[in-house]
Amino acid sequence: MQVSTQVDSAGSKFAFYQEICEQLHNLLANERNLVANAANTAALLMQCLPDVNWVGFYFTEGEELVLGPFQGKPACVRIPFGKGVCGRAAASGRTIIVPDVSKFVGHIACDTASRSEIVVPLLNWGKLRGVLDIDSAVLNRFDADDEEGLESVVSVFMTSLASDDMPDLSEEAAFG
Ligand code: SME
Repeated sequence: MQVSTQVDSAGSKFAFYQEICEQLHNLLANERNLVANAANTAALLMQCLPDVNWVGFYFTEGEELVLGPFQGKPACVRIPFGKGVCGRAAASGRTIIVPDVSKFVGHIACDTASRSEIVVPLLNWGKLRGVLDIDSAVLNRFDADDEEGLESVVSVFMTSLASDDMPDLSEEAAFG
């Protein structure tokens, strides 16, 4: 599939993320499958974001997160709520930026190259469905503009799905 990677990173981050959101909206149009849309979201972000080495999703299953579609090195599969950066973001329902993962107590290292990280919760009408996790090999890679931009990206992803396509995996027979 042809996807433009001509995102102008020389402009403001707001404009940069606005362009990514437009591309993502077009990429996910007419498809509501959770795995397909998560896979394409991760692929688009990996292509467009500078200085990232892991982009992917974890989805809720009971009281833990389970690995979903991602780009990057193989990662840990299950993260209990409250553990690691992902589990903390899941437990709080808030975006977490970690400027230096070596200083985050309990950080789970999947790729030893990772130096900083941002985790954005996936909320559907206030119910936690998972998280978007992005790692960088650069210290202090993510700031408040990335937080705002990636929350918009997550919003585009979430609205591409019919609400009944957002499973708590433990409740959905289709996902075992
Ligand atoms: N670092 C994450 C684990 C997931 S990997 O980065 C892909 C954490 O501490 O939750």
